[in-house]
Amino acid sequence: MTSLQLSCMVLGTTAHKPSRLLPNARRSHRFHVSCSGGPEEEGKVDRRNMLLGLGGMYGVANLASDTKLARADPLLPPDFKSCGVAYVGEDPLDVNCCPPTSDVIKDYKLPPVHRLRVRRAAHRLNLANVAKYKRAVKMMRDLDVADPTDPRGFSQQANIHCAYCNGAHDQVGHEELDIQVHFSWLFFPFHRWYLYFYERIMADLLKDPTFALPYWNWDHPKGMQLPWMFDEEDSSLYDPNRNQDRRPPAVLNLALNSTITDPVQIISNNLSLMYNEMIGTPASATDFMGKAYRDGDAPPTYPDGGTSEKGSHTAVHAWFGDPRNEYNEDIGNFYSAGRDPAFYSHHANVDRMWTIWNDIPADYPKAITDPDYLNASFLFYDETKQLPPRRAAAVNIQDLSKGVKTAEKVFPLKLRKTTRVLVAKPTVGKADEVLVLENIVTDNRKLIKFDVFVNDEDDKPEEVDRAEYAGGFTQLPHRVKAKNSVSDLRLNLKQLYENINIADDDKVVVTIVPLINGEAVTIGGIKIVEAPSA
Ligand code: C2O
Repeated sequence: MTSLQLSCMVLGTTAHKPSRLLPNARRSHRFHVSCSGGPEEEGKVDRRNMLLGLGGMYGVANLASDTKLARADPLLPPDFKSCGVAYVGEDPLDVNCCPPTSDVIKDYKLPPVHRLRVRRAAHRLNLANVAKYKRAVKMMRDLDVADPTDPRGFSQQANIHCAYCNGAHDQVGHEELDIQVHFSWLFFPFHRWYLYFYERIMADLLKDPTFALPYWNWDHPKGMQLPWMFDEEDSSLYDPNRNQDRRPPAVLNLALNSTITDPVQIISNNLSLMYNEMIGTPASATDFMGKAYRDGDAPPTYPDGGTSEKGSHTAVHAWFGDPRNEYNEDIGNFYSAGRDPAFYSHHANVDRMWTIWNDIPADYPKAITDPDYLNASFLFYDETKQLPPRRAAAVNIQDLSKGVKTAEKVFPLKLRKTTRVLVAKPTVGKADEVLVLENIVTDNRKLIKFDVFVNDEDDKPEEVDRAEYAGGFTQLPHRVKAKNSVSDLRLNLKQLYENINIADDDKVVVTIVPLINGEAVTIGGIKIVEAPSA
């Protein structure tokens, strides 16, 4: 009988990018978290890998000399063995949200990255990716049935949130104090790691190392409703415990002000609130992130949270929680929020807000350098151990280019209908390149408009607010002697390449969509060239 195979993890709260983590950074503390008495089942136990988060981070070397900041009391990971009753307020819950326990805990080393996961907006996900996400949640739900103690199961994953947020975990050495991962500077880092493992479990179950959680883009008008994929009643992504009045297409109201019904006003309010919490209000990193929270501190409460957590984050929970339930379950209460699949996409966007905020220039430092922040740590189970990562099948361009003709076969092109054409890129992957439509001959007497998209699998030419939109050509009718004009259209692709992950591709599919008087346009040729250096 093998014992549970466990590993600890080196993690620091500033881990915006995995590459910045130092796997063997010096640690100021040695933790001994013993987690004995776990369930042991032949053939299954070695699939559960428990991880301990230890904060060995760059910057730790300064610890000893930095007495000003250093109480040197970062929050310690909980001891799963002493996990107890969870509460809502003073009310004990009759739900057991404690994770399975284990004896061995090792350092978690960030695995090598072979292929980037790209999280995409839920409302823009193509059907294949929606189906994949459904399948992943279904597999996690199936694990619940096959073995309710499997930490990768859907309920066990939901319970992580319950245990860390509703008082089931105590602070090690301070049994009278609950651990609370909300309302402090640990809010963003804790949830980032939570999603990190959740996503890895899904990727592993799907055998797709590129799988990424879709994010619920509620900061954008098009994302300001529950994404449809979560509202199909027969799907694994559906949760009946939601506010029924707020099912799509009801517009999300971040102001939680139900006297307003005009969607334009609601959206305008939402955008202003987003601006305030991201840019307008915070005057320091802790304003945005939340206040300090260290070992031995009383669990923080709502007022201690950052602008983002208290604003849009809380609003989404509150808006969709089900008022028919005592505690607004599911997403309306921490202990049950993880039972709603939409919760993880909600938090994928919260995670994105952290990144976006971090990248917005401000006149205060964004990095928190306090070692108690950097060294805080958590405990998680990771995904099943797997063979070395496989490469995902190249999806997009192969599928997309099926049946699409090359430029030589299509041009010169009389633009009578929407035309797709395969165009070679001079450089593989990301690059600074320009798409050139050359020798466009137009009838001067006509109003003319056509649009150009790159690698557009959605085929929604009416929506130009998408990353695949490269640009358009417009001509007003004008009177000159000549009947025709000849011109080129040059569209810079740099930003577009960054937005639609085209790494590794050496060609793209260009879609040209005639909108007005296409029959009065002839395009001589098409090519992609390197952008002239400035
Ligand atoms: Cu841990 Cu949105 O909550």
